Amino acid sequence: MADKYKIHGGNQLKGEVLIGGAKNSVLKLMAGSILAKGESKIYNVPELTDVGIMLEVINALGVKTHHDKQEQSVTIDAADITSITAQYEYVSKMRASFNILGALVSRCKEAIVALPGGCAIGERRVDFHIKGLEALGAKIKIENGYVHAKANKLTGTDIYLDIPSVGATENLMLASILAEGSTRIQNAAQEPEIIDLANFLNTMGADIVGAGTSEIVINGVKQDDLHPIEYTTIPDRIEAGTFMSAVAGTRGKAVIRNVYPAHLTFFNDKLIKMGANIKLIEPTAIEVSCKNRLNSVNFVTQPYPGFPTDLQSMAMVLLSTANGVGIITESLYENRFMQVQHLLRMGADIHQDRNHAIIKGIKKLTGATVGASDLRAGASLVVAGLMADGTTTVENLHHIDRGYEKFDEKLRNLGGNIVRYSDDNNFNEEMRVRADESRL
Ligand code: EPU
Repeated sequence: MADKYKIHGGNQLKGEVLIGGAKNSVLKLMAGSILAKGESKIYNVPELTDVGIMLEVINALGVKTHHDKQEQSVTIDAADITSITAQYEYVSKMRASFNILGALVSRCKEAIVALPGGCAIGERRVDFHIKGLEALGAKIKIENGYVHAKANKLTGTDIYLDIPSVGATENLMLASILAEGSTRIQNAAQEPEIIDLANFLNTMGADIVGAGTSEIVINGVKQDDLHPIEYTTIPDRIEAGTFMSAVAGTRGKAVIRNVYPAHLTFFNDKLIKMGANIKLIEPTAIEVSCKNRLNSVNFVTQPYPGFPTDLQSMAMVLLSTANGVGIITESLYENRFMQVQHLLRMGADIHQDRNHAIIKGIKKLTGATVGASDLRAGASLVVAGLMADGTTTVENLHHIDRGYEKFDEKLRNLGGNIVRYSDDNNFNEEMRVRADESRL
């Protein structure tokens, strides 16, 4: 079933929206849950296909899981682990499942995990993960597309990451929890999701210091020191940034709830420079509004706390109709301008040269049929459709479903004219009426 969004652009988004739990945190918390023997429970879990894949990865280890969608929780009972393998069929669908490697090596001293390979946005190597595990004392064999890691004993050590990789920092934190002695990760990633994982593991009984800075020290503890816990995931800063973009881009006014503004400092700063108003109305709620055409800015994507690569495509959409010329430099991924070819079809004036994009703002985008090539590029095309004149069809929604829960429903509640339909039952009159009713 190939689902699509039909968007009739032009409505200003108004009202309130509630942000869900952070996808890029919850997936790692789920991996970390297998470290303690017994039943851990995670709250604020969004209903996403990626969460479903992680549950399948964990189930395949012989661990019992339960996803209560009503309560937005997952329960993971890792009393016993009967398999140490994560198959390619899962890891190829979702790279974050590679994070099970560190947790399995910690708990079982052995793991067989498929290598994820590249993906649409870049090569995305895992060499730092492998080198770090070797430094901790694991013997690594790479055979038939799988990493086989085995360690009689893991010993704390100093690990320096060439790039502050989010996934490598997380995998090595997980791997070193039960090592003998202390592990020091230098040039560690500083993302809020790293702090969330460290808080989760420390609540479980681990001893991690420095998460959120470039040097993280993990003092090894014993298996018996770890106990199952209940824990609530932090809000999704990228989902929040996506809605902020949609509100600013449609010149609307809306309150975004369940957001930690400190996680979005750099993005907020750019939006304000572009002319949007952002008001803190509660510690976890902001009001975004915009009356006039935005102004262009330049930015370079960088590891946290720099401008997030995951919001680069949303910002590009805003620049596409801003006053002036904006330059974006994508410094994290080789191929993260997948939205450009589609924005050109919507009339945008963008010139791309390797990892630089020069965006000359036009007055209005016009609706077209476009396709999501990856999660964030796909979400940005939805934002573009809401801003555009006329009707936009966004195809390949399975990419967007990986990271946005009830995306169309939340946008409709804000007054966006967006409807999801399946190819099997073409966009029909009933849907047209629903879409029309959702207009402000
Ligand atoms: N890299 C290496 N070798 C490694 C690890 C990384 O060369 O061993 C390179 C990558 O190729 C990339 C750069 O380092 O060029 C940064 O990669 P990183 O490891 O930090 O990214 P990740 O852990 O694979 C997470 C998020 C991404 C987000 C990036 C950067 C998850 C599940 N994914 O990926 O989110 O873009 O950090 O912030 O946490 C998304 O949500 O759409 C998404 C892609």
